[in-house]
This record gives sequence, structure tokens and C-alpha cells, in this order.
Amino acid sequence: MPIRTVLRMGEPKLLQVSSAVDPSKIISPEIQELIQDMTDTMKSLNGAGIAAPQIGVMFRIVIFGFEKSIRYPDALPVPSTVLINPIITPLSLETESGWEGCLSVPGIRGKVDRVKAIRYQGFDQDGNVIDRSVEGFHARVVQHECDHLDGYLFPMRVTDFSQYGFEDVLFKN
Ligand code: NI
Repeated sequence: MPIRTVLRMGEPKLLQVSSAVDPSKIISPEIQELIQDMTDTMKSLNGAGIAAPQIGVMFRIVIFGFEKSIRYPDALPVPSTVLINPIITPLSLETESGWEGCLSVPGIRGKVDRVKAIRYQGFDQDGNVIDRSVEGFHARVVQHECDHLDGYLFPMRVTDFSQYGFEDVLFKN
């Protein structure tokens, strides 16, 4: 299965709104191959998640999850998940700040405020309903990935640019 090129910030497609997948088409070869390519691409780059528009396909599909993340060594495990047509509902107004990076913004990290606890719903790769309530890094990853479906990259969410920069400089100690 091919590893695809990840689009980098500056590419106009990353700023576009993606289209919902017809649920009856989830099991089609086109969508199944897309999911496989996203998975292979994410794993090849040790990503915690990836969204379809990052490989230039404008569908509302995100993939995330890891047992142990090389890119986020302090993060608790997140179940490996394919999430199609996601809907996010905040479970409280409470936010927390945390470091993020993105395969489309290589080498850069920044602190981003995200809602601490969310419910997310959608379909998995077999067309089954997903309905989970989560918090912490799991909630952060979902919010970050789903932002891609609406044309938002994490730097657009940064409010404190004293907490933003090149990874190897920020964390040189
Ligand atoms: Ni990203």
C-alpha cells in the first residue's frame, strides 16, 4: 500500500472544508484504499493522527491512535481509530493548554488551548457507529484532526507565540 505525500502548510487544499462521506460508500474500494493509505502514511511518519485532506483527499475522514507515540512520549495511549463524518460536542467549557505538532507543519510545535472533554460521534471503517466521551490528549488529538476537515491548522489556534517554535530549539534540553 502506498505511502502518500503529506501536504505542507501553504498548500491551499489544507485551508478548504472537506466533504462528508456517503455512509453507504464507506465500504467501497475507493474509501477503503484511502483509509489504508492514510494509515500507512501516518505510521511511516510516526504520526499520532492524520486527516484525509493532508494527503489531498477532501473527505471528512481522520485516523488517530497509538500505543506509545514517539512524537508525544508523555501521552497516554489512544485507541487506534478511523473516524468518518465526525461530530464533536464539548462536554464542558473548560479548556487546557498543551503542545501540538502536525505532519503538515514539520519541525514546529506550539501550545494550543483545546476543550478538555468532548463527545465524538461518527462512523468507523466498517460503517459502524462510534460514540465516545473522552478527555485529555485523546480529546486534543480528535480536535486537532477534525480541525483539518474545516481547513484549520494548529498554528491558526495558537494564542501565545512565546510557546511556539522549532521543536529542536524549544526542547533542546
Ligand atoms: Ni495535523
